[in-house]
Amino acid sequence: MIRKAVIPAAGLGTRFLPATKALPKEMLPIIDTPTIQYVVQEAVDSGIEDILIISGKGKRAMEDHFDRNFELEARLEEKEDERWYNEVRRLADMANIHFVRQKEMNGLGDAIYYARFHTGNEPFAVLLGDTVINSVIPVTQQLIDIYEQYRGTVIAVEEVPHDKVSRYGVVGGRKLSDTLMELSTLVEKPAVDKAPSNLAIAGRYILTPQIYEAIEHTPPGKNKEIQLTDAFLYLLKRENIYSHTIEGKRYDIGNKLDFLKTNVEFALRRKEFAAPFAAFLKEIVRELEAREAGK
Ligand code: G1P
Repeated sequence: MIRKAVIPAAGLGTRFLPATKALPKEMLPIIDTPTIQYVVQEAVDSGIEDILIISGKGKRAMEDHFDRNFELEARLEEKEDERWYNEVRRLADMANIHFVRQKEMNGLGDAIYYARFHTGNEPFAVLLGDTVINSVIPVTQQLIDIYEQYRGTVIAVEEVPHDKVSRYGVVGGRKLSDTLMELSTLVEKPAVDKAPSNLAIAGRYILTPQIYEAIEHTPPGKNKEIQLTDAFLYLLKRENIYSHTIEGKRYDIGNKLDFLKTNVEFALRRKEFAAPFAAFLKEIVRELEAREAGK
């Protein structure tokens, strides 16, 4: 049974400056909801109530977001704003959320290593804090279902265009079904001609406690950081690792263009915005087309 989740959220967010100079990238909102809240919700929707967030310098806003805010609650109560009063209270109670700070930016493998005392001898889920996935079944739940059957490390992957593989960790192995693979290799951000496939690691994992020993044996890799992907190579010599091609769509919030697209797609899914926002977008498209035709 998977009872715990670890959410690495310590990165500096250099791809989203200047917003991320003082604001954690995980607090960037999709419409009105911080990214990290979607990620915590995915863990909760997958049956996990114990969550460890690996934070870092300048990330206090995340702690406040999941804490009580008595002044705000009192004000909302006074205004009889039941909807937001309940929502603000729910945020503080949605899970048991713990924080630990990564002291130096030494990579994802190093960040996960900070969770070792918290997760102890149990398998646990990992959800990257800057990645939101929209799916029918929460992706963490999809991975848990596979873990229950195979009892090994499970990594969520998705197909990406071949020319984009160098942005991701990429896996290779033997197909067990349309969506499941037993891995024989993993490479962090390979050159296009060195990638074992176009299946990119999608920011969700089920890890076993053996990952900690593997991280201890992993030297710095890409960007001179301890890469989680490299730690899997050590682990592969000792146990099976599986990849699951996710059912769902992934949104990388740390990237400005993807962030813009995500906001548009999510707005079109929100009841209160769908119709007026669609009308606005159609108007923009008409203007763009007229401008192009006039060229
Ligand atoms: C991390 C992982 C990479 C994975 C990616 C998914 O990279 O190291 O394997 O494919 O997340 O978003 P980052 O995006 O932090 O550089």
